[in-house]
Amino acid sequence: MKKKILCYIFLFLPVCALPAKTEKEIESRIENLLSEMTLEEKIGQMNQLSYEYESAELLSDIRNGKVGSLLNITDPETINRLQKVAMEESRLGIPLIIGRDVIHGLKTIFPIPLGQAASFDPELVRQGARVAAVESRQLGIHWTFAPMVDISRDARWGRIAESFGEDTYLTGILGAAMVQGFQGDDLSSPTSIAACVKHFAGYGAAEGGRDYNSTYISPVQMRNVYLPPFRKAIEAGAATIMTSFNDNDGIPASGNPYLLKDILRKEWNFDGFVVSDWASVSEMIVHGYAKDGKDAARLATEAGVDMEMVSRTYTHFLPELIKEGKITEEAIDQAVRNILRVKFRMNLFEHPYADTHSPSLLYAPEHLEKAKQAALASAILLKNEDVLPLNESQHIAVIGPMAHAPHDQLGTWVFDGEKARTVTPLNALQTTYGHIRYTYEPGLAYSRDKNPENIQKAVQVARNADVAVVFLGEESILSGEAHSLSTLDLQGLQSELLKEIKNTGKPVVLVIMAGRPLTIQRDLPYADAVLYNFHPGTMGGPAILDLLYGKYNPSGKLPVTFVKETGQIPLYYNHNNTGRPAPEQVVLLDEIPLEASQTSLGNTSFYLDSGKDPLFPFGFGLSYTTFEYSGLLLSAPEIRQQDTLTIQVTVKNTGDRYGTETAQLYVRDLVGSVVRPVKELKGFRKVNLQPGEEKTISFTLSAEDLAFYGRNLTRKAEPGEFLLSVGRDSKASLQTKFYLKEKD
Ligand code: NOJ
Repeated sequence: MKKKILCYIFLFLPVCALPAKTEKEIESRIENLLSEMTLEEKIGQMNQLSYEYESAELLSDIRNGKVGSLLNITDPETINRLQKVAMEESRLGIPLIIGRDVIHGLKTIFPIPLGQAASFDPELVRQGARVAAVESRQLGIHWTFAPMVDISRDARWGRIAESFGEDTYLTGILGAAMVQGFQGDDLSSPTSIAACVKHFAGYGAAEGGRDYNSTYISPVQMRNVYLPPFRKAIEAGAATIMTSFNDNDGIPASGNPYLLKDILRKEWNFDGFVVSDWASVSEMIVHGYAKDGKDAARLATEAGVDMEMVSRTYTHFLPELIKEGKITEEAIDQAVRNILRVKFRMNLFEHPYADTHSPSLLYAPEHLEKAKQAALASAILLKNEDVLPLNESQHIAVIGPMAHAPHDQLGTWVFDGEKARTVTPLNALQTTYGHIRYTYEPGLAYSRDKNPENIQKAVQVARNADVAVVFLGEESILSGEAHSLSTLDLQGLQSELLKEIKNTGKPVVLVIMAGRPLTIQRDLPYADAVLYNFHPGTMGGPAILDLLYGKYNPSGKLPVTFVKETGQIPLYYNHNNTGRPAPEQVVLLDEIPLEASQTSLGNTSFYLDSGKDPLFPFGFGLSYTTFEYSGLLLSAPEIRQQDTLTIQVTVKNTGDRYGTETAQLYVRDLVGSVVRPVKELKGFRKVNLQPGEEKTISFTLSAEDLAFYGRNLTRKAEPGEFLLSVGRDSKASLQTKFYLKEKD
């Protein structure tokens, strides 16, 4: 018996001990390598260049150990040639880490992250990132600059497309899932790519939604709203992190040691590496924070930026700064350790090359299928007055510039996906849905088209059909980096086109594909149904057709509040209550009596023109069936700090179709040492229900889930009363209270 146990221990020891041993081995390999490196070679590791062409200078820099990473190189043969120089011709044979913005797929394009967020499905997000990793790694790409977990409460900001929306909790969960998808179970696997969580920190709060702009995020907001998703992504194992372009309260992120050292390294124990954003080190000169390149290099190194993306101040000035004693060689060693650690963990020393021999996995059928599943789960039904799902015997008029926009349907951040592989709704009607009678007349050529010439042709087509399906939205170039907008109405003559089609008297289904929430209040009366898709990617066409014909019941929920007017921005569900919240009914502009007295309307917080409510709240999304919530039950009315509260609720499918509902749990901490939001998402569950079926689902909450940074920036769950609500969206009306006790 004794022998058996020993043998058991013996057999299992190496397995249990493996990660620690490997980590130990990695650390000793790092130290060995570091001890052999010249200062120039160390600084070389900290240098990332953007690949332009195979110049003699680049080859010589790689050969001389002056480059640690390249980005924007995707041809596997070229990657292998350059990597061979690094591996075989440089003195120490340190592999290059090859980076690329693989944001929502490399070749097989998934819905933009904002769309993926609408699925409220971390597993789908994980799978999408897995597909992206497999395709990327085959081409020799080791590292993607994703996920972007910037909280975005402003749809004018073009990069909202690349975000998971406005909610801290949802963003954290989906960001972690994306990291797990990219990195797989093991970073050293030849199908894994390193994630880079970005942009650290606060980038999404750009003033006025103008990209790159300053932010003024208070310490409490930073801690409670903007930082938690980064922490979650790091806990999920994100190998790298990118600084942001913005200055927060006057400090550019690439020169902010509080963020990069105190929080990231000391509090969160991050041991991967920090990369700057594109030239964000040298841009500290433009910000007015660094006096010149040398100063910028010093500030960034001191702050803790390990690798500089493209601006080369490290290469140019670090040797001098060290000589002058302004930067210690130990600071350089630390940065290099962080970079080498990731290269070792990824097994790049053993597997540095692109796989040019195996059969291509790009656009593999299972990748396309997953992209379609993601597009299906990402569509949000905003309105449906008995038109959807469509009947297959109806003759449909296919109208609008997005019905066949193979480039634009892919969305922003698509450098490698090809429009020739996109399946548009029109393509789907020509293939899988070939039995449907349709007539196609776009009316407008593209989203910004202001030429009315073909609108009447589209009207004619609508007149002759049973139902008009109007595909509107945004071209992909209108969202994404540096693509901010100050008005969010449908561009060009799209609203006019929709109106004309509605005037035919035919039922109108509006299908939108866009990179952000648009202000569609004025369009809603002209559509009997609205299916909203954030740019849905390669397989958007067949997914939309499945949704329109009811093969798949829409289940997406809004990851961001839809405002009525751009002037309402920022408007988000988890705001503070203020001392004067608006009542349910407010007096609006046209209802104000003439010469009303200053105080007669009540003094509360809302707009006289657009009121207090958004067009659609966070978490909103309809289905072809209906759901009812009942029986909200808590395991106890009161919990101690060490307890877990269990919350039960019954969800019933009260309609006549199978459907998926995302039940959402919100909590309000009624009194805090700093005021707390009126509601915060604390959990969500997807429930699949047959008609008439009901299921009781449960959530749990612990004191940890209720903790926040309060007065003095200390994090704890403050005792007191909490309001809990559960429901279909952030209006969640089923409510109860519970009490959290003091520590005993
Ligand atoms: C700038 C963007 O802000 C960042 O997100 C991206 O990863 C880099 N450019 C590299 O392309």
